[in-house]
Amino acid sequence: MEINGIGAAVTGGGNGIGRAIALVLGRAGAKVAIGDLELDAAEAVASEVRALGSEAIAFALDVTDQANMNDFADAAWQAFGSVQMLVNNAGVMSPVLPLAHSSLDDYAWVFSVNVGGVLKGVRAFVPRLVEAGEPAHILNTGSEHALGVPHIGAGLYTASKHAVMALSDVLRAEMPAQVGVSVLCPGLVGSTLWRASERRPEALGGPSESSEMAGAFMNHMGMCADEVAEKAIAGVRRGDFLIVTHPHAVEPAAKRWHEIESAFEAQAPRFDGDEKYDLSDFMAAQVLGEQGQSA
Ligand SMILES: NC(=O)c1ccc[n+]([C@@H]2O[C@H](COP(=O)([O-])OP(=O)(O)OC[C@H]3O[C@@H](n4cnc5c(N)ncnc54)[C@H](O)[C@@H]3O)[C@@H](O)[C@H]2O)c1
Repeated sequence: MEINGIGAAVTGGGNGIGRAIALVLGRAGAKVAIGDLELDAAEAVASEVRALGSEAIAFALDVTDQANMNDFADAAWQAFGSVQMLVNNAGVMSPVLPLAHSSLDDYAWVFSVNVGGVLKGVRAFVPRLVEAGEPAHILNTGSEHALGVPHIGAGLYTASKHAVMALSDVLRAEMPAQVGVSVLCPGLVGSTLWRASERRPEALGGPSESSEMAGAFMNHMGMCADEVAEKAIAGVRRGDFLIVTHPHAVEPAAKRWHEIESAFEAQAPRFDGDEKYDLSDFMAAQVLGEQGQSA
């Protein structure tokens, strides 16, 4: 995917990884629409992109609101004439708790932003990207939590990032050849994610104080967001589906895969003719029609 000259939209682009992706895109010559709950932060990033010599707009965006997401898409198309890249990046971290003690408000908040936000971005942008018939790309920010279970205490977050992986994987199968899909799966990154609870809406529990200690830990131990963003856009340029950044994160992924493989070997080994139960061709024909492409 060529980046120079494209129009791109980044959700959660006001801070952290989204900001860093917006800057890498701007440096590569993309025009960037930056959407964020924090309009001031989005405006600051838009100024940084303009200072790099590219075009940028800032937009007050709540990814949980479909109408607002549709307006974000309209604003990006209006500003740049065309949009070829969507970065579904906005996300929040759930309070660190055992699952049995997690609240339903925590669940609703984390899933409405991390999963609902990706779906709403896809609904607002993808039909237009596909209709344009030009090369385009959707980059979804997952996490090492999309690959397996890196650690306990973040069950809702892990479940939400598994859902981002699943949405991304299905989306890639549904897209025509000119539209690529990637899922970015970083481990710990220095960002303002530790402040996510301060931005929590009243309807879903309301804001709460964040831990300065968690912030210090995250920013001291985490990979630099600029490095993650460089890797993300390099992966988009290559057309990679999985974009990984933290080498140790292979462990939970390998553990998951070995567990799946040994379960099949022990309980359901392959036999001649077993594909009669495989629905994938039937489903593809139902949804995509004979051309194998989305309408
Ligand atoms: N920081 C990490 O360790 C890490 C690791 C892996 C994946 N991620 C993922 O990276 C993405 C970006 O997170 P980050 O670490 O840069 O955090 P961040 O908090 O610095 O940035 C997230 C941005 O999203 C915005 N946002 C939050 N809710 C929103 C909403 N409803 N609508 C619009 N914008 C909203 C915030 O205002 C913020 O600017 C998230 O999806 C996160 O889950 C982060």
